[in-house]
Amino acid sequence: MATGEALCNNVQSTVSVTRRSYQVVIAATRDMGLGMDMKLPWDLPMEYEFFQGVTTKTSDPKKRNATIMGRKTWDSTPLEFRPLLGRLNVVLTSSSCLDIGADDNVLVCSTMESALELLATAPYSLSIETVFVIGGGELLRNYMNAPDCEAIHLTEIDISVPCDAFAPRVDTSLYHPWYSSFPRMENGTRYSFNTYVRRKNHIFGSGEKKSVVGSDFKQYYSFLPKMVFERHEEFGYLNLVQNIISTGDMNDNTTLSKFGCQMRFNLRKTFPLLTTKKVFWLGVVEETLQLISGSTNPKEKGNNHIWDSDEAKEYINSFRENATEEEVDNPLQWRNSDSSKEFNQLSDVINKIKNNPHKQKIMLSTYNLKLSVSPCQTVAQFYVANGELSCQIYQNSTEASLEIPFSIAAYSLLTCIIAHVCDLVAGDFIHVIGQANINKTHVQNIQKQLQISPIPFPILKINPQKKKIDDNFEASDLELLKI
Ligand SMILES: NC(=O)c1ccc[n+]([C@@H]2O[C@H](COP(=O)([O-])OP(=O)(O)OC[C@H]3O[C@@H](n4cnc5c(N)ncnc54)[C@H](OP(=O)(O)O)[C@@H]3O)[C@@H](O)[C@H]2O)c1
Repeated sequence: MATGEALCNNVQSTVSVTRRSYQVVIAATRDMGLGMDMKLPWDLPMEYEFFQGVTTKTSDPKKRNATIMGRKTWDSTPLEFRPLLGRLNVVLTSSSCLDIGADDNVLVCSTMESALELLATAPYSLSIETVFVIGGGELLRNYMNAPDCEAIHLTEIDISVPCDAFAPRVDTSLYHPWYSSFPRMENGTRYSFNTYVRRKNHIFGSGEKKSVVGSDFKQYYSFLPKMVFERHEEFGYLNLVQNIISTGDMNDNTTLSKFGCQMRFNLRKTFPLLTTKKVFWLGVVEETLQLISGSTNPKEKGNNHIWDSDEAKEYINSFRENATEEEVDNPLQWRNSDSSKEFNQLSDVINKIKNNPHKQKIMLSTYNLKLSVSPCQTVAQFYVANGELSCQIYQNSTEASLEIPFSIAAYSLLTCIIAHVCDLVAGDFIHVIGQANINKTHVQNIQKQLQISPIPFPILKINPQKKKIDDNFEASDLELLKI
């Protein structure tokens, strides 16, 4: 059993060795406030549960994690909670006589570098799975954005209260969001869990730059705690297709189907363009912008020709009653629900969102009266709360391998553009699907896709000069920033 003092000496005599990389886990207010008078200025049991889960759980049951903290964070932890159970507690202090008593679960180190070096040598290199730096402010000022930090788990607490300890802001030139939870309320406080991972060009470890490229990169993020890794929203889609393949109904000899499916995507920080397969982003942009413009001119379709195939035309023609050629060529409309052009749906939606969002349902229907045809995306409904715009669509029947990823991106883009022109933040996109189908011939490719790990979703930047829906948005106004 080692005393703190003995370990201080031990650390000082350690020869230069590889350093462990680490992840930061903290909760902070809007101003990055961490604490006041050596206490946390909030009471959020579920937030504490998350902290406990992330820092305690390991994938190897024979290992445990280490938590590195500043001496004042140690002092501020109530006696009954310290040392933190099930973890190796590493306390940093410049003092050589911190009296912690004899405890196998506590190490005292005089510098961060010596702590990371010690944890990289036996027995800790074998028994410690992940190293977490848990604060406080003084420690984070130097080490939150430092090269050995692989990820930051930040609970963003949506309050402004007086604090005397602060963390620096996450440097977004170094980190990219991996996951952001839907906001939750606890004891009247709104907050969300966020994980940021080091950008591809800034992946370091053990003091040296790692070269992580190609397919290695696709598997790279498995270093994240499992409970965070699995929260990537792409798993919602991957689980859906897995579910269709393994338990779907075979109603004919060619197609597997599931009825009644739902996925939810958070648009606040990232944009859900799937990463385990190629989604035709330019096609998404051009179709969305054409539908926003209300144009039926085939020359303005750009690269998007999804309704141009003989099969698509035959399908639309089968519903044709009094429709014109123009309507057959453009079955999906957001501007006008029929060719009378008397009622502009999209303007109506924006008007309601801006002026009267809570008094009435805000709906966008794609049902084409003249064609008596209901395109597969039947209806979108919008909702405003907390300065955020959310959208739910109902898609009555769709193909899961190509159409679903395309629709997720297209309606998320529409939501982001409408939020932008209404001075709102984009909130949730909820995708409800009546019948989701997979053609048997696609199963093998989808199974290959299921072997790939997602990487962080990109971030969408909309040109701030374009302020109105009629400002003729172009593809260049919509920039996707990838990790
Ligand atoms: N919200 C959160 O997630 C969270 C997390 C942790 C803490 N907190 C709060 O933050 C406050 C404490 O933070 P704080 O900024 O005042 O102090 P802190 O960072 O916890 O501790 C500072 C002390 O740690 C030691 N230290 C720091 N960096 C060191 C280094 N590189 N090498 C050696 N020793 C080092 C020094 O101890 P000596 O003076 O002994 O040399 C220093 O005075 C409390 O209010 C606590 O409740 C909040």
